[in-house]
Amino acid sequence: MKYIIYTKYNNYIFKSVLIFHTTVAENKCELTHKGGITRFPDGFAFGVGTSAYQIEGGWNADDKAPSAWDNYTHRHREAFLDWSTGDNAAESYYRFEQDLEALKKLKVNFYRFSISWTRVLPQLTTEFKNAKGIAYYNKVIDQLLANNITPLVTMFHFDMPDELYKYNAFLNSSIIDYFVMYADFLYATFGDRVKLWITHNEPLQFCTKGYVEANFPPLVHSPGVGHYICMDNMLRSHARAYRRYKEKYFSKQKGKVGITFDVRFFFKKYRETPDEAVERALQYELGWLAEPIYGKTGNYPSIMKSDIDNNSWKEGLSGSRLPIINNEWSQIIKGSADFMGLNYYQSAYVDMATNRPHEVPSIEYDSKIIFSRDEYWRRAKSGFLYCVPEGLENLLKWVRDRYDNVEVIITENGWSDDGQLDDSGRIDYLKAHLQAVLNAINDGCNVTHYTYWSFLDNFEWIMGYTEKFGLFYVNMSSVNKERVIKDSAKYYTKVIKNRRIVASNGGQQYCSNFVSVLLSVFVILNFYL
Ligand code: GAL
Repeated sequence: MKYIIYTKYNNYIFKSVLIFHTTVAENKCELTHKGGITRFPDGFAFGVGTSAYQIEGGWNADDKAPSAWDNYTHRHREAFLDWSTGDNAAESYYRFEQDLEALKKLKVNFYRFSISWTRVLPQLTTEFKNAKGIAYYNKVIDQLLANNITPLVTMFHFDMPDELYKYNAFLNSSIIDYFVMYADFLYATFGDRVKLWITHNEPLQFCTKGYVEANFPPLVHSPGVGHYICMDNMLRSHARAYRRYKEKYFSKQKGKVGITFDVRFFFKKYRETPDEAVERALQYELGWLAEPIYGKTGNYPSIMKSDIDNNSWKEGLSGSRLPIINNEWSQIIKGSADFMGLNYYQSAYVDMATNRPHEVPSIEYDSKIIFSRDEYWRRAKSGFLYCVPEGLENLLKWVRDRYDNVEVIITENGWSDDGQLDDSGRIDYLKAHLQAVLNAINDGCNVTHYTYWSFLDNFEWIMGYTEKFGLFYVNMSSVNKERVIKDSAKYYTKVIKNRRIVASNGGQQYCSNFVSVLLSVFVILNFYL
């Protein structure tokens, strides 16, 4: 804004030109190096990730049966922000050659993708093995390996076979047998070449959206009950699938099997907030399944057990809503992972709830914690996503201390926007979070892999195609759905080549929060007329 003001003093007239410069509040998304090595250790691997339903398309191609997501998107178009489906998505089922070219350009060390259960076993069980679906994944795996890119394969990334509805899906323990059968088939079919397996992606998201919020299949609302049974069946099916690998395949295949959790870090909302709030939040979010697998007891976090047992009793139940892990199961579950997969996107503030504002039963009621955000955190296109790199650093240290410095693979970390090619926001996020990883490594954390989510712009679940996480833009209106490189992809390649965090050209300039809230007056020029 420019103002011209005339003032008269004695015989002189002064003309003042005032230029007001308004600084747009641009919140920081950066982290400083805290000493130690600046180069990522040899052997540290950089990769990118996707999942089958989000990129493959070919929803009914070559004998593939519908997954719960196929039916959900077809029957409830209105549930999706842009009324879209994953029917075609980036068409990776038909265009892996294009994907491979882009992966080679990126120079990644590994590629995380998932296998669609209903593409390889359309009838749920191994009665019918779909040769064409299997051939697709064989091609992906072989071509990756031929190009020195390690496959990191997720068995189950939200796209549940529709057939499982008949067996009450994750509310019925029969899912354990089906999942082990599926895992066994995967080991037998691809395990000669795949050496890194993830059983489940984000049990907490899957069970919360599928069994509480009811916006993911199977669209059930059962807080505090179905929610907990779902998590329990995720845990047991993971553990049994792990044991199957160890018993039947490990001696020959020599691979690793883990599980991926979605987790935030937590900061105290107020100075007076008790430390307990942070600990509770971590236990309820990460510890829920991490404690049984990586902890000392082979059981749920004691805090969860006592909260839920007590509340169940108060509700007049004779048993706890939290399923019981007996000794036999404890033995199966404890130690059932070779690494911990972590998907980290953001953090939150926590405080203890002072009254009982929530539905009974529910996790909010049981955990007695409430979450909030910091208005100064920079927000992505996605409403849930804020840039808090120090949260990742703290989280890695928490895992180091709590779980005996288990190997951690960061299986997802990413930023959403509108899909622009000059995506400096994504570069800032990537850079800051790589710094968090490096700081954690310098502090002794056993982090071995970093996966940027996502390799390509894709179908972002209920947000459809309205939010883009990709390093490559997918031109959805072009005939061959070309993959177009973004600035962030170029930046990531530079990091991978140099094995260190390089400067980002064209990143945004920031002023401190303090300065950014002030309206700054820049120039006052006085001229004689
Ligand atoms: C994760 C999920 C991914 C992807 C990402 C971005 O929860 O595993 O499939 O959608 O979030 O929102």
